[in-house]
Amino acid sequence: MDGTPRFLAQSFEQHFGPASALRVFRAPGRVNLIGEHTDYNLGFVMPMALDLACFTVIAPAPDRVLRVYSMNLEQEGSWPLDAIPSAQPSRDWGDYVLGVARELQLAGYGVPAANLLVWSTVPVGSGLSSSAAIEVAVAAALLGGRSIEPLELAKLCRRAENNFVGMPCGIMDQYIAVFGREGAAVKIDCRSLDHEVVKLPAQAEFLAINTMVKHELGSSAYRHRVAECAAAVEVIRKTHPQVQSLRDVTSAMLASLADQLPPVPAKRARHVVTEDERVEAFVEASRQGDLRRMGELLVASHRSLQHDYEVSCEELDFLVDTAISLPGVYGARMTGGGFGGCTVNMVQPEHALRFQAAISEAYQKRFGLTPEIYPCRPSAGVGEVTAL
Ligand code: GLA
Repeated sequence: MDGTPRFLAQSFEQHFGPASALRVFRAPGRVNLIGEHTDYNLGFVMPMALDLACFTVIAPAPDRVLRVYSMNLEQEGSWPLDAIPSAQPSRDWGDYVLGVARELQLAGYGVPAANLLVWSTVPVGSGLSSSAAIEVAVAAALLGGRSIEPLELAKLCRRAENNFVGMPCGIMDQYIAVFGREGAAVKIDCRSLDHEVVKLPAQAEFLAINTMVKHELGSSAYRHRVAECAAAVEVIRKTHPQVQSLRDVTSAMLASLADQLPPVPAKRARHVVTEDERVEAFVEASRQGDLRRMGELLVASHRSLQHDYEVSCEELDFLVDTAISLPGVYGARMTGGGFGGCTVNMVQPEHALRFQAAISEAYQKRFGLTPEIYPCRPSAGVGEVTAL
């Protein structure tokens, strides 16, 4: 654990003063390999939890207050426990903490009076799910080992994001922050909420590359896409009343509805339906060690997000187009919600170093920004860190 917990304990005491009974919890960020904008349509996603993570250090406090210090931002927020149920969002990082505390109270778990330090290595705005990492790490700390079903924990943190932060996100990010597996990706069925652990072929390395931009449009467009998918379902239900979500729609069904669905909902639906198919195909190709096919599916996913779902941007497209023109690259695509953040790249290990140098140089030349590059090492989901 590279000494992280001790350093965190020291920082905690520097900020809050000497403390006993310190505990440290960790929840990871994630990179989604394939299955984008399918979770809120109850389809399939295949993320892996990363070794980039959010850590929370917690100790009991004497007064009836929850005090939280963000070490990244060097800011503190504090909330009397009794005021949490009626708290209003303030549109900053504290909303993730407060949203989780509020959902815990609403679910009857109770929130202890506590001092909490939060420190995250997941880059904010990168599309690697820094928000789910903080939500799940804070929830774990506030629960302090009290028993909760892992799925309940993921759902509770998603509710914090939906109900308090105000993002109508799906379950993927909170789910993988809870259920992440060391050394593997996780294919999640967002309807049944079951998952399957998928070992990836050793002959490929995954790298996330950060555009270093996050366009403002992102969260409004996200809401808009959620609404557009619901609207498409409404139209489809007129001829196929059994359809509950885009998960239930097939490519053949869409083709037969060509003159009923207006062009935009039709494109959105086509992305979701074909993306679900791509997740299944990717898992199959991975099982067979068919690296070329996996790469093709990544690129097809990107094109669909770029043209049909329209959530990409110039910077993401540039990174993908450049990546697939370089030697040793199986495929690349945007990952996460879009409008900035990261691409995920599937690369032959022996080409990885040269690839990073080349793409970094090209991006710098084009946009004047140095992209951060993160090797994707699949890691475990939420847990207590014991080595203090
Ligand atoms: C964001 C949301 C997820 C998911 C992705 C797109 O990360 O939080 O629920 O919808 O976008 O796949």
